[in-house]
Amino acid sequence: MKSIVLTGFMGTGKSCVGIVLAKKLSFKFIDTDAMIEKKAGVKISEIFEKQGESSFRDLESEVIRDVSNAEDCVVVTGGGAIIRDENIQNLKKCGIVVCLTATADEIYNRVKDETHRPLLQVPDPVAKIKELLEARKDFYAKADEFIDTSGLTVDEVADKIVSLTGY
Ligand code: S3P
Repeated sequence: MKSIVLTGFMGTGKSCVGIVLAKKLSFKFIDTDAMIEKKAGVKISEIFEKQGESSFRDLESEVIRDVSNAEDCVVVTGGGAIIRDENIQNLKKCGIVVCLTATADEIYNRVKDETHRPLLQVPDPVAKIKELLEARKDFYAKADEFIDTSGLTVDEVADKIVSLTGY
């Protein structure tokens, strides 16, 4: 069966939902950020710090190319993966692309105590979240399906994806 790809901004719950969804469908769980860290041998924050964002984006495109033929998987991408056209094409090849959404304030509440996202380690993270959401909105719009995760539990979002995709 074709895979299910989860995309969406940082903090929209992609990884937590992906793990639960993979379990429900007996699909394999693939996290492209984890693949990047494995390939690079260092954490994402270190890739950003030592090699810069564009090197990170090149690695991201490579691993997405590698998963583009994966079947029976739930593939979770980093929140910026969709900004390259090549990536969205490969993700669509892989399966149905579901974009998880949430408001900037909700995203901030979910990520504020975490330190592993280099793009949000700035003096005004809410402004940064709003700026990136605006800059990326046309890219997220290319997904096949959208789920507003506001007020929903991880399990509820996973169930919505099951009924939405008919899997
Ligand atoms: C990024 C999102 C992160 C990770 C990297 C860049 C982004 O993944 O890929 O820090 O550009 O939005 P999550 O969306 O899983 O936090």
